[in-house]
Amino acid sequence: MIPEEKVREVADKLSIVEVVSEYLPLRRAGGNFLGLCPFHAEKTPSFNVNPAREIFHCFGCGAGGNAFSFVMKIEGVSFPEAVKLLAKKSGIEIEERQLTTAEKKSQDEHVQFRRINDLTTAYYRSVLLNGKEGEPAQQYLADRGVHASISDAYRLGFAPDRRDGLAKHLRNNGVDMESALKLGIIRKSDSGWYDLFRNRLIFPIRDLRGQVIAFAGRVLDASLPKYINSPESPLYHKSSVLFGIDMALPSIRTGNAVIIVEGYFDHLALYRAGVQNVVATCGTALTGTHAGMIKRHAERVYMLFDSDNAGKKATIRSMELFLEQRLPAYVISLPAGDDPDSFLSAHPTEAFNALRDKARPAFEYFVRSLLLETPPDSVDNKVRVIDDIMPRFRKIADSVERDLYEKEICRLLGITVHAFRKRMGGCKLLQQETSPAASRPIQAVDSIQDTLLALFLNYPDARAEIIRFGLETVFTDDYLELAGFLSAAPVDSDGSIKFDQQADSIEKPEQKMLFSRILVSDAYIAGIEWRAVLGQCIRSNEKKQVSSIKDIAARLAVADPGSDEYSLLLQQADSLRRRKSKL
Ligand code: UTP
Ligand code: MN
Repeated sequence: MIPEEKVREVADKLSIVEVVSEYLPLRRAGGNFLGLCPFHAEKTPSFNVNPAREIFHCFGCGAGGNAFSFVMKIEGVSFPEAVKLLAKKSGIEIEERQLTTAEKKSQDEHVQFRRINDLTTAYYRSVLLNGKEGEPAQQYLADRGVHASISDAYRLGFAPDRRDGLAKHLRNNGVDMESALKLGIIRKSDSGWYDLFRNRLIFPIRDLRGQVIAFAGRVLDASLPKYINSPESPLYHKSSVLFGIDMALPSIRTGNAVIIVEGYFDHLALYRAGVQNVVATCGTALTGTHAGMIKRHAERVYMLFDSDNAGKKATIRSMELFLEQRLPAYVISLPAGDDPDSFLSAHPTEAFNALRDKARPAFEYFVRSLLLETPPDSVDNKVRVIDDIMPRFRKIADSVERDLYEKEICRLLGITVHAFRKRMGGCKLLQQETSPAASRPIQAVDSIQDTLLALFLNYPDARAEIIRFGLETVFTDDYLELAGFLSAAPVDSDGSIKFDQQADSIEKPEQKMLFSRILVSDAYIAGIEWRAVLGQCIRSNEKKQVSSIKDIAARLAVADPGSDEYSLLLQQADSLRRRKSKL
């Protein structure tokens, strides 16, 4: 644990411009510094750093935050690690707060765990490379075209066909066997300690930073089970580990895309062919946590799963997770019967890249495979298809995309959009009610609310005035939530908000993005007559709301009075009227 004062001390000592400049060139542009965003590919700079606020924001991809967020994102590290990194740079000594006995114990144990995993990796590797016992595995690797440099990059090893080779090795190195037991790589029986892996090729599983956290072992022949994976442990949670992420990060950063595969050998085959932005799940289905991790590092994801039934199911299930994350997902299809290894053994990397370039949007893939399974040649089948599509269709975040798919689905099914919507039962409106964030495009920019928020952030008196009006009469959606959050934020003696500190505490990505965006683009309100601008904005806001009431009235006129849609429209009209009457 790093004490809060230390975090502040580090923050005070460093300048975000210096921190960022270590990674990319910046040039001055007005009150900001400008550069090419390191988090997505761009040709014209939209990455802004505001030195006065110690905040950065990219208008291209929406990344934003303070110096700590920048380092976390670019180095792929946790908050405490980012603080430590920056402390070192600014020459601040971080003596961590006195740990409690329990914390100390758990820290010592982690050091032990790491040492055990390092010893284990080295042991398996030396069995593979030195001596007779490793020969079958060497031969196996040679047969599969895995050369020394690749074996080295993965730190491959071999677990000998012995009951307790590893157990003995660990004990000879003074390891506490109970700790090794917790990692699941050795086990205990009445007759003593014995190894989990026997006669298996070993893939160490590493975290983002390249630390070994678990192992997987493959048989050298056709016996079953093909793989054994280390069990969950204090270091290893398979629902949040992506195999190969440490090797993939540099390449993910340049291309902003991730390819996700199912197998260790799929990963190896692609990496060996020079396709390095690849990660694999470890013998488990993709989870929401995985999808979230991928989203933190990339702007789009390609799924490359086996073309059998299980692979198809996995593709569709994963698509749902990516829809929820609002991460554009594509499906790479290999010729039937091929996996990445067999494909790349027979074809050059360019052929693979061509397939990647032809990858279909996951949703399109989903609809097409559904229609292959259930041809829409009867009313029954059409209904079945629509019902299968519905829950997924609702998850499409982007409204333009949703419209396009709606048309396409209706065309493929030979039904009218009206009929489709009717079956969906006013789903669009329902969705807006239940999860406003998921239904809006990445960031709905509202220039009036932008200005109002800028006033709110910069003029303590305007802030007080807006709070007096009632935040919900002035702001909506993310603006409202952010303003609500910030109205409780601590302020300086002159009433100003500590922007760089707040950047750490805003949790929702949409609001974080909104916050940093306003802070690098609100120079225009410096030194203005805030009262006049506030008045103007509030009047324009009011006009806009009147026109949306008109819009709702028009839709009410054509909606079926018995439908859910109708009652929802009524509710919306009501809440708008109430808000307006408060102004
Ligand atoms: P595959 O059978 O496709 O393995 O399973 P692979 O890694 O591509 O290996 P090769 O090319 O056939 O030698 C895909 C993944 O499913 C998990 C592993 O993570 C594997 O990489 N798996 C498979 C298991 O966890 N246990 C098993 O018994 C089989
Ligand atoms: Mn495979």
